[in-house]
Amino acid sequence: MQQRGIDTPRLDSDLLLADALGMERLGLFLDPNRPVVGEELALFKRHVQRRARREPVALILGRRSFWQHEFMVTSDVLVPRPETELLIEAVLDAFPPEQQTVPLEILEIGVGSGAVLCTLLLAYPDAVGVGVDLSSAALAVAEHNARQLGCLARVTLLPGDLAQPLRTPLHATKRFQVIVANLPYIATDELARLDPEVSVWEPRCALDGGHDGLTLLRRLPGEVIPFLAEGGLLALEIGATQGDAVAGFLTAAGLRDVALRLDYGRRPRVVVGYKDHATGETHEN
Ligand SMILES: C[S@@+](CC[C@H](N)C(=O)[O-])C[C@H]1O[C@@H](n2cnc3c(N)ncnc32)[C@H](O)[C@@H]1O
Repeated sequence: MQQRGIDTPRLDSDLLLADALGMERLGLFLDPNRPVVGEELALFKRHVQRRARREPVALILGRRSFWQHEFMVTSDVLVPRPETELLIEAVLDAFPPEQQTVPLEILEIGVGSGAVLCTLLLAYPDAVGVGVDLSSAALAVAEHNARQLGCLARVTLLPGDLAQPLRTPLHATKRFQVIVANLPYIATDELARLDPEVSVWEPRCALDGGHDGLTLLRRLPGEVIPFLAEGGLLALEIGATQGDAVAGFLTAAGLRDVALRLDYGRRPRVVVGYKDHATGETHEN
């Protein structure tokens, strides 16, 4: 696999072999002399052939862990990324679950696999959530994951563009304490330069952020802030070079306490801002 440009060949082949054997990766180390024969060997070979064509391991296995949950993934959704866990941390820090006295209402724009929305609903057992996505195929994956994780009854999934599906008599009066989004933020010209795992195998509508990568992030605050409750949090994942620009969009849209959250490499990956209370109270976290 190394000759094919895959930079984690050992890890990938372990994961593919463990899957073919129906065990966790740890099982390979506990039983290193286990023979691989018959249908298990045939499945492993098929997995390796797919990986050699640069198909991501998560798509071959059909699943990916995020936070501590496992999500089904297909070629219709972005494979959940570790950096997106920063969005979860931003929400948990702003609204510590043990301090919540009323059920949170959470909106995610661009729900994809449902990894973010389901993880939040599992962290807040009384919360309800709305997930919007332009892709109906992605919404079907989110629905499957919400059902598997036992939170489907608390989820409403709506097809459409940004906040457009909320502008109906049924939803127009809703106000959310938390609005999160990990929208496409890669500039169109950069897409072809990405690894094939991303540029070939992941859906373009999950990646393409327009000419400068900021097309959707520029539009989003104006679309969703009318649906943000007073004191509510807007948290957006961003590309590592987009912090100042997106913080500017949130400030210009009237949010306060706008701040960047950094990843472990000290790069800005999430921007947060709060909607003022009508009384002028400030957020304490
Ligand atoms: C980067 S993926 C994020 C998926 C998931 N939330 C996550 O963090 O793993 C972006 C998602 O936004 C959706 N999307 C793109 N443009 C959109 C738009 N204008 N309105 C709503 N959803 C959109 C895509 O279909 C895709 O599922």
